[in-house]
Amino acid sequence: MKNSMLSSAEIRIRFLEFFKKRGHAVLPSASLVPENDPSVLFNTAGMQPLVPYLMGQKHPLGNRLASCQKCVRTGDIEEVGNHKNLTFFEMLGNWSLGDYFKEDAIKWSYEFLTSKEEGLGLDPERLYVTVFEGDEDAPRDLEAVEIWKQYIPENRIYFLPKKNNWWSPGDNGPCGPDTEMFYDVTPDGLGEMTHNEYVAADEDGRVVEIWNDVFMQYEKRDGKVVGKLSQKNVDTGSGLERVTMLVQGKTNVYETDFFDQARSNLMIRTMEYTQNPEYIRWSRIILDHLRAALFLVSDGVVPSNKDQGYVLRRLVRRTVIYVQKIYKKTPHDIILPVVDSYANVYGEAYPNMLDVKATGYEVIRNEVEKFIKTLTTV
Ligand code: GLY
Repeated sequence: MKNSMLSSAEIRIRFLEFFKKRGHAVLPSASLVPENDPSVLFNTAGMQPLVPYLMGQKHPLGNRLASCQKCVRTGDIEEVGNHKNLTFFEMLGNWSLGDYFKEDAIKWSYEFLTSKEEGLGLDPERLYVTVFEGDEDAPRDLEAVEIWKQYIPENRIYFLPKKNNWWSPGDNGPCGPDTEMFYDVTPDGLGEMTHNEYVAADEDGRVVEIWNDVFMQYEKRDGKVVGKLSQKNVDTGSGLERVTMLVQGKTNVYETDFFDQARSNLMIRTMEYTQNPEYIRWSRIILDHLRAALFLVSDGVVPSNKDQGYVLRRLVRRTVIYVQKIYKKTPHDIILPVVDSYANVYGEAYPNMLDVKATGYEVIRNEVEKFIKTLTTV
């Protein structure tokens, strides 16, 4: 299925409008740097700024919320450059803080994914769903299966264990079983699959996870589920770049419209310099790292030797390394157009990206200079 009509900006807006229409207050993205949680360097999921409210505190805007949250994850930085891993990404999410539960959460997920008018218009025949198989902490999620059966055939619903279908932001805090939605990305369609065939399709990327609905009603302490929360919450998460890739009929996130301008700016120059087949991966790393670096600067991070500043420094240094692999020279004329194109692409959704364009470029440029000096003096 391909809905080439929807741009990433339209998908972001559609998502927030869809949930607004269903009674959700739309929150602006919080900063990448968590405001009240020194235990983590970055917001890594849409729910992270909402943890106190999932634990029971009243949210001033009510008990139905939705957002598109800026996130940074560095745990798999070495994987960046493959078809789907990104350091910076945006996560679409909707939340019920003790309000609706499985019935509405699943219905709205299905509607948003498949509705041509209000949602993504994805092909229902390509959807597969997993649910929690149950263990000593929580029962087999037959309730979710019953709800899903209203929308998709039972033989496309698979039970999986905690390592797949349980979600928590860390060792402490709210958590719960989840149901996950996957999309068939093969040209001809996979059709009916047994449990084992489905697991194999997931392992080799023929189906791609597009959304999860976590039924957050438990609490974890020191890695152990210790009991139920005072309320039953819903916490959903869907990677904007990932769904954009599917909607735009692409097979890797770097071919989505987020990267169009930056990629062509980079590729035009890249082609002149190298025939090394590795250049595609190297170019993606540059595209990823510069985007993440610019977003970090836009949230006030400055390069340093610790915490968020160290991550920014590392991203810039890695950029220099990969730029030099391709160009074998100082890379300012590469970096500026890429930074510029990101400021343009994101200026509407995040107006401070336009304000920060000049500063962002200066910060990155200075850091590049410093690193090049280090390289030439060793
Ligand atoms: N909804 C959990 C997540 O962030 O993926």
